Amino acid sequence: SLPVPSVQEIVRADPKNIPEKYIKDVEDRPKASDNSQLSLHIPIIDLSLLANGDVAERRKLDVACKEWGFFQVINHKCDEAIPKMKESVAAFFDLPLTEKKKYAMAANDIQGYGQGYVVSEDQKLDWNDLLFLMTLPCNMRNVKYWPLTIPSFKESVDEYASEIQRVTDEIFKNLSLLMGKEENCVKELHKDMKQGIRMNYYPNCIRPDLVLGVSPHSDASSITLLVQEDEITALQIKHKGEWIPVRPIPNAIVVNVGDVLEAWSNGIYKSIEHRAVTNEERSRISIAAFVIPGNEAELNPVETMVDDDRSPRIYRNDVKYIDYIRYTLAKKMDGKLANIE
Ligand code: SIN
Ligand code: FE2
Repeated sequence: SLPVPSVQEIVRADPKNIPEKYIKDVEDRPKASDNSQLSLHIPIIDLSLLANGDVAERRKLDVACKEWGFFQVINHKCDEAIPKMKESVAAFFDLPLTEKKKYAMAANDIQGYGQGYVVSEDQKLDWNDLLFLMTLPCNMRNVKYWPLTIPSFKESVDEYASEIQRVTDEIFKNLSLLMGKEENCVKELHKDMKQGIRMNYYPNCIRPDLVLGVSPHSDASSITLLVQEDEITALQIKHKGEWIPVRPIPNAIVVNVGDVLEAWSNGIYKSIEHRAVTNEERSRISIAAFVIPGNEAELNPVETMVDDDRSPRIYRNDVKYIDYIRYTLAKKMDGKLANIE
């Protein structure tokens, strides 16, 4: 993999320096006009209502997944786990570079400290650094990437991972019922459910109009659960052809449908393209938990979501998750990741 500099270090050394590699082509740059009031309409889902079997709330979840692919979850009871997790992640990025590099992603690994997908010398880079860890099940963990010199780190991640799993289970139960199946259906479709957590650090940038924190993409997960700073609007989703900012609701968890759930739902639930922008004043941390199926899980649509007239089958048969991932990675970037030099 190609080593790339830490963006955090670039900004620390000289906040006025934006290396050419980070300056997006004109057509890819964020525009001030990508700032619609529509963000006020992103659905809000009350998890405590879902947990109580509230049918109206379940229907709201259905609409959210069909029409937006994104929603914000409130009353999730993760109110202790979230700030602890954010503190531990902030403590990691506060470590000196030499310390962080001890957790650098090895060549062809996906876990560790590094950056997103970097294949070529002339590729444009995103304005962020990350630490990616597999968190569940515990036997997926590779402790060599865990910054255990931070006293609170393991406990914070343990707690956060299991709280996020609880929220995930509740959402999956409701999605199963919405798809006309019994409540374990979506969980079982995963075969061997896993959770990975991507911790992002986006430095501030003196020219947020030239760079992107994360380039447009959809997630290769079943669902993704994101926590972010309460005061900074940075995430944008593509809705009806426009970039819509997601204004954070304090303490809410932003959930989105990934490619896998889109496939299982026969395209009825939408895996939406999204990106993150930066701002001049403040760095930003976000924490994305990806729920992913086992390699052998199949991406066939649930039969109740296929209707020859209204929703014909749109995915071909018998694609396994592992094949899909290989294909996606190959298409995007030749399957390589970058560590920080
Ligand atoms: C992502 O979707 O990759 C991250 C989004 C964010 O940081 O808001
Ligand atoms: Fe994403």
